[in-house]
Amino acid sequence: GLAACSSGGNSSSGAKIGPTSPLVAQAEQARRAGNANVQSVTLDAVLSEVDLGGVQVKTWTFGDSLPGREIRVKRGEVLHALLTNRLPQPTSIHWHGLALRNDMDGVPDVTQAAVAPEGNFTYEFAVPDAGTYWFHPHVGVQLDRGLYAPLIVEDPEAGANYDSELVIVLDDWLDGTGTDPDAVLDNLRKNGMVMGGATDSAMPEMGHGAMPGMTGVGKSNVLGGDAGDVSYPYMLANGRIASAPTSFEGRAGQRIRLRLINAGGDTAFRVGVPGVAMHVTHTDGFPVVAPGGVDSVLLGMGERIDAIITVPEQGVPVLAIPEGKEAPYAQVLLHSGASRAGTANDAAVAQLKMSGIATVADFTAAPGVTLPDKKPDVTHDLTLAGPGEKYDWTINGRPFDPQSGLPIQQGQRVRLRFVNDSDMFHPMHLHGHTFQVRGANGKGPRKDTVIVLPRETVEVDFDANNPGQWLTHCHNIYHGEAGMMTVVSYV
Ligand code: C2O
Ligand code: CU
Repeated sequence: GLAACSSGGNSSSGAKIGPTSPLVAQAEQARRAGNANVQSVTLDAVLSEVDLGGVQVKTWTFGDSLPGREIRVKRGEVLHALLTNRLPQPTSIHWHGLALRNDMDGVPDVTQAAVAPEGNFTYEFAVPDAGTYWFHPHVGVQLDRGLYAPLIVEDPEAGANYDSELVIVLDDWLDGTGTDPDAVLDNLRKNGMVMGGATDSAMPEMGHGAMPGMTGVGKSNVLGGDAGDVSYPYMLANGRIASAPTSFEGRAGQRIRLRLINAGGDTAFRVGVPGVAMHVTHTDGFPVVAPGGVDSVLLGMGERIDAIITVPEQGVPVLAIPEGKEAPYAQVLLHSGASRAGTANDAAVAQLKMSGIATVADFTAAPGVTLPDKKPDVTHDLTLAGPGEKYDWTINGRPFDPQSGLPIQQGQRVRLRFVNDSDMFHPMHLHGHTFQVRGANGKGPRKDTVIVLPRETVEVDFDANNPGQWLTHCHNIYHGEAGMMTVVSYV
């Protein structure tokens, strides 16, 4: 509910905010004038014991739940979140995808000091854009332990063209017995690249029963499958394995808005509902031109897709199948009145794998969110390479150095060219902005995270209208932590 709250106890709460995008500025002004609604939440990062569905694991979560409890606000409101750190390590929260004030972005050593064990930090910022977002720490690979939750920003002016919503957060889970992701990363580094499959790459097969206009991404070992000989016996949808899934009580004919979020550290998913067309409405929170129904969508790490489906007469599973790795699927059951979806869906998985899959190339930003035509004022190439002998991943040959980023200036139209000089795919994410993917006709979807396929180049444009120090990095968090990260900075 709504609650007034006193201003945060951080020294940063008085930080100067430069001129910025109209929406960020407007929302921030309302926040500072104190006439925006404030939503207050508390977030405790804690050691937890979680039931994945008959499998008990010791891990780290927000508020003892996996995923953490959803936060839901309205565009223009202020989110006031008190983080308390009950972990044995410093932590932080990054609000993935939001164009927020830079000092609330949650990146230790770049936008704030890490929050020490038993310490706390108050995040307070205005939320300028509606959409499906999420949050997670920005320290090491803590995200991969289960510290994540959805952040849904509603548009108070949009009339809903759906009856109900189903938020699904996907995750890959290491060995389920408490494998420490930090140890996994250490191991990768110590042994250099021990990956099976990462070196004998193949381009994704095209075609593969794809629908006309859809890019077929066949089974290949270039999508995901990177954390070497680490196994992923569990894939989770809303914190549960496929044999003990969560479910949704639908009624035939009801229109459901799926909000799909990939919180996995190392896995891209193919998501689909067998026999049911998905009408994709948003990529990373921003509306797209309706592309017609698709069988399934590719969802890289960090990405979100919203799609409307109509509940059929028969109960069906919403399936999430790891792309390019031998690992189980995850699912949420969509019941249809008395017709209950069953939990055993191997045949449906096999069928869905052969169907069409929509990728970023299939989406175009809706006119209202298309960037006005403009030549870039500055173009930065980011050559993505690795892994080196010590499992190092680099941008332009350099590991992450918070002191040396890519200079741009406020007001510029900026083009980033992500040049993938490796055999793995990289979901590249930019903080604090939503770029427009250039796509074949120059006008792809608005996104904050985009998959760059092996040996391919993806160009994205954005307007530098939210000054600060903003990370851009690979959202395979093992790659990001091993160096594939840099800073875009301007004042
Ligand atoms: Cu979701 Cu810098 O990350
Ligand atoms: Cu990567």
